[in-house]
Amino acid sequence: MAHVFVTGGAGFIGSHTVLVLLEAGHRVTVLDNLCNASEAALERVRALTGKPVAFVQGDVRSPQDLDRALADRPDAVIHFAGLKAVGESVEKPLAYYDNNVNGTLRLLEAMARAGCKRMVFSSSATVYGEPDALPIREDAPLRTTNPYGRTKLVIEDMLRDAAAADKNLRAVMLRYFNPVGAHPSGQIGEDPRGAPNNLMPYVMQVAVGRRDKLSVFGGDYPTKDGTGVRDYIHVMDLARGHVAAIDRIVALNDALPSPFAVNLGTGRGYSVLEIVKAASAAVGRALPYAIVARRPGDAAAVYADPTLAKAQLGWEAKLGIDEMCRDAWKWQQQNPNGYSA
Ligand code: NAD
Ligand code: UD1
Repeated sequence: MAHVFVTGGAGFIGSHTVLVLLEAGHRVTVLDNLCNASEAALERVRALTGKPVAFVQGDVRSPQDLDRALADRPDAVIHFAGLKAVGESVEKPLAYYDNNVNGTLRLLEAMARAGCKRMVFSSSATVYGEPDALPIREDAPLRTTNPYGRTKLVIEDMLRDAAAADKNLRAVMLRYFNPVGAHPSGQIGEDPRGAPNNLMPYVMQVAVGRRDKLSVFGGDYPTKDGTGVRDYIHVMDLARGHVAAIDRIVALNDALPSPFAVNLGTGRGYSVLEIVKAASAAVGRALPYAIVARRPGDAAAVYADPTLAKAQLGWEAKLGIDEMCRDAWKWQQQNPNGYSA
C-alpha cells in the first residue's frame, strides 16, 4: 500500500483514478483548485468506496499549497492538474504555459523539498500530431499542432532533463488516447463546462436533449467511412493503467527506465459514425447528426500500439465501445447537468 498524492484528482480522469487507487488499498491525498471540477466528485468517490480521501483545495503553481499538501511525504505523485482545451489554448496560450508548464515545474520543486522521487504524468496522444504510421508506437516522432500540445511536449522534455540530472527521479509519462465513459455506477463521470469540445460528451448531451444534433467534423477523410478515426479508451481502464504504473514504479524503482513514456489506448480505431451508432444503441434511439466541414488541426486517424503498456506495466484495456457508451449514458442520464444539481 502506498500513499499517493494526486493533483487534479477532482477532475474527470483524476476522480476515477482516485477511486481505483482506494479500491486497490492505496491511501490518497488530492490537490485541486476546482477550476474545472466539483468537490462533489470526491464526495461521491468517498461514498462509493467507503474510504477517506484527504483533500487540499489549492493550486499546483503555489509552493505554499504544495508544501502543505506534501507535508506527510507521499510515496508517489500522479499529476493530472492542468488545462486541456485545445481551442482555448490557441486563445489563451500563456494561461496554458502557466498552469501546465509552470505548474509542473513548481510541483517538481516541491517534490524535491519533500523527498518524493516518483511521478506519473498525464501526457497525451496529442504529442504525436498527425502520425506518419499506424498504430502509433512510443518511438514515433513527437510534434504537435497547438499550444496545449506544446505544453505537454515541454513537460515531457522537462521530465527527461530532470531525470537525466537526478538518477533517483522516476517518471512515467502516460500518453492517453481518447478517454471516454464513466464509472459503471453512473455516480462519477465527465462534466465539461459549456459546450463540449470532445465527441463523446457532445453525443451524450444530444442524447439527453441538451443539444439538437451532433456536427460530424468531416466526411471526406481517407478512412473506412470518411469520418475521423480515434482510439477511445474507457476511463476505468485508464484509471487502472495509472494504478499499474504506480505499482510498477514502487515495486521496480531503480530498475524502471526513467523517464518512461507509455501509450494508454486499446489499439482499436473507431470512426465518428461508428461511435454515433454504438451510442444510439446504448441510448435506444437513433441520435441525430449532420456531416459538416473538417475541424482545423484534426488528424484523419489516430490509434495506439499498446504493446509496451502490456509488456512493461502488465496492463491492457479490457472494456469495449459498448461499455464505454453504456456507462457514459448512465452517467449522463442520472446527471443530466453534471455535478450541478
Ligand atoms: P479535468 O479538467 O477534468 O481535470 C483536470 C483537473 O485539474 C481539474 O479538476 C481542475 O480543476 C484541476 N486543475 C487545473 N489547473 C489546476 C491548477 N493550476 N492547480 C490545481 N488544480 C488544477 O481533465 P481530465 O480530462 O481529467 O484530464 C486530466 C489530465 O489528463 C490533464 O492533464 C489533461 O491534459 C490530460 N489528458 C486528458 C485527456 C482527455 O481527453 N480528457 C487526454 C489526454 C491527456
Ligand atoms: C482532441 C484534441 C487532443 C486531445 C484529445 C483528448 C483537438 C484538435 N485535439 O482530440 O489534443 O488530446 O481531444 O482530449 O481538439 N468530432 C466530431 N464532432 C464533434 C467533436 C468531435 O465530429 O462535435 C470528431 C473529431 O473530428 C474527431 C473525433 O470526433 O475525429 C474525436 O474528437 P475529440 O473527442 O475532440 O478528440 P480528438 O480530436 O482526438
